[in-house]
Parts: sequence; structure tokens; C-alpha cells
Amino acid sequence: MPIVEWKESYSLKNEALDKQHKKLLGILNRLYDDFMEGVNDSAYETTIDKLLAYADYHFKTEEQLMDKMRHAHTYSHLQQHKVFYENIRQLKETAGQSSKEQSRELIEFLVNWVVQHMIVEDGKITQ
Ligand SMILES: [Fe+2]
Ligand SMILES: [Fe+2]
Repeated sequence: MPIVEWKESYSLKNEALDKQHKKLLGILNRLYDDFMEGVNDSAYETTIDKLLAYADYHFKTEEQLMDKMRHAHTYSHLQQHKVFYENIRQLKETAGQSSKEQSRELIEFLVNWVVQHMIVEDGKITQ
């Protein structure tokens, strides 16, 4: 069962960014499923790597767009992306050592972060 589902209210009215957000949520769902199903470590790490790579790609898309627009929130937005990226790295680093509860909390935190960031911060890009 997906932990997060796309809603029309998440739309930024920008086809490219909406498409990327849907994909990002898809990878987070995959990560949660892998975790809940207790797939082997290498499959789990592969999914975390996918999330790292896609988050990097998506964040660059937004940052370049904001740069082009000379958007007033570019710097603070970039800082938030960095913190999020570090949290995913932390999930990878602690994958073998943390308790199931700690990992689950971190995944839930990542999901909530993406949804909040998408609505509040990414919403400022296309406003
Ligand atoms: Fe975004
Ligand atoms: Fe963003």
C-alpha cells in the first residue's frame, strides 16, 4: 500500500515539475514498500540510491528554473534541498545499524517533508 499518493491539489500548474514530483513520490512509495517487506539490504540500498539520484536531478531542475527567474527564494530553497538530501544519505548510512522503528520514522519524515516542501516551498516557484 502506498504511503503517499499524488493529489491534484499538489499540482504547481507546471507539467514538468508535476511529473517529477509524481516520480519522486513513486520512489518514496517504493522505498517504503521495500522497507516494510524487508527486502534484502542490497535491494533496499539500490532504492535509496535511486531516491538520491532522482532527488538530485529534481532539485537541480528547480534550482536552475529559480535561478533563471531570479527568484527571491532561491538561496533558502537550495538550503532546504541540501538538508533533505543529507537526510536521505543518513538513511543509507544507518540502514544496517538503526532499529526498524528508527528507519520507519526517518522514511515517514522524508515523505512528510516532500509533501510539505512541495505544497509550501515549491508552490512559491510558480506563483
Ligand atoms: Fe520539488
Ligand atoms: Fe523544491
